[in-house]
Amino acid sequence: MGKNKNNKAIWTTRIKGNSSSLFQRFGSSINIDKRLYKEDITASIIHVEMLFKQKIISFKIKNKIVYGLGKIEKEISKNKFQFNQRYEDIHMNIEKRLFEIIGEEAGYIHTARSRNDQVLTDFKIWIRSASKEINKNLNKLMKTTLKIADKNIKTIMPGFTHLKNAQAVSFGHYLMAYVEMFYRDKKRFLNNMNSLYECPLGVSALTGTSFNIDREYTAKKLGFKNPTKNSIDTVSDRDFVLDFLYNCSVCSMHISRIAEEMIIWNSDGYKIIKLSDKVVTGSSIMPQKKNPDHLEFLRGKSGQVYGNLFSMLTILKGLPLSYFKDLQDDKEIVFRTNDILVNSLKILNEVLINFHPDHKKMLKLAKTGFITATDLADYLVKNHSISFRDAYKKTATIVNYAEKNKKELDDLTLQELRKVEPKLTSEVLKVFNLNNSVNSKKSYGGTAFYNIKKMIRKYQKLI
Ligand code: ARG
Repeated sequence: MGKNKNNKAIWTTRIKGNSSSLFQRFGSSINIDKRLYKEDITASIIHVEMLFKQKIISFKIKNKIVYGLGKIEKEISKNKFQFNQRYEDIHMNIEKRLFEIIGEEAGYIHTARSRNDQVLTDFKIWIRSASKEINKNLNKLMKTTLKIADKNIKTIMPGFTHLKNAQAVSFGHYLMAYVEMFYRDKKRFLNNMNSLYECPLGVSALTGTSFNIDREYTAKKLGFKNPTKNSIDTVSDRDFVLDFLYNCSVCSMHISRIAEEMIIWNSDGYKIIKLSDKVVTGSSIMPQKKNPDHLEFLRGKSGQVYGNLFSMLTILKGLPLSYFKDLQDDKEIVFRTNDILVNSLKILNEVLINFHPDHKKMLKLAKTGFITATDLADYLVKNHSISFRDAYKKTATIVNYAEKNKKELDDLTLQELRKVEPKLTSEVLKVFNLNNSVNSKKSYGGTAFYNIKKMIRKYQKLI
């Protein structure tokens, strides 16, 4: 940007002294909101087209402004635009440059709008496409997870409660639990679209405007469904930001949970999965180490994402209506959160492509901890006409006996079992088979092989 008389803030007629340079540096948001340049230019073009349609500006002025904005877009995309902190933000930087390119007629661009509705319009458009991008990454992640689940329908592992062996499950079923979570994440981002489809442009600073503008027109042209309904609420509202941040937080929490599971499974105590060298790092002192840093990174990042949600909630708490500078931080918070989430989704996908379940070790672990005890209790109910509570007590007695004699349930002989329930026949022994155990859970949503296959097919079609 060359030197010219416009190389000053827009308000210098009113404010004579120079603003403190420290504040200019620290309070300016240009380094952050320049990311909105495309949205800002698109919205400005539609705005001036509307002004022309409504006979508020002339054809000639509209064309000049559209030409200038096009030029600016090219300059920015080619890295030829000089951003200036003195002009605070992307809106003023673009307006200033427009004056340089087309001259005084640039002054018409800000008719019937303010930066307050301008920034919200840009931001909503940005969050809309960011949400779509996140959902694309969620789709990718779900597809990867489905593939691994499909290959592991018959892989048996212990299902845990309290991190203690609970009942045997299919590893495929376990993975499908995460598909459910990621699918809910996707729906959550889609649900937020409703508020992202209400267009703020035209509410001006806070009151609306006396110009005869057509807000329906700008809304539709910018891909919104309707204009917002209350001018004061519009410039004060950051609920759509909170919704986005909350959705990111829940999604990060899911990422963090699977990361933590994989860290546990990969630990030397469990060793039921193996991470390939692509997704581990070494130690500077211990030559033998292969550490699951990628997963730890993912687990840790959820902390930042939650923190960002709380930053925004705190900024909004007790803030009177309507616009205050406090709100400017929303962009930094959202951009940072978005970047963390998108990268986390990509990294998790990479980890999933680069790990292997150790089927044998999973099975071995599943054979410990009297994992078929519930199957035995169920068997007693079904075959010996006793209540579940009685069956539970008899099974607990059998478990105590096995533990005392350092045996697993499937090491027990029929004679030993009969000491507790004399009516038992050799048929009971099949309940200790883990394959039977897993495949017997045929209730809807249970871990039976056929159920899992059906769910996988359902999601393959859905995604
Ligand atoms: N950069 C500002 C922000 O993001 C734009 C709105 C400025 N409005 C104002 N009245 N100072 O919040």
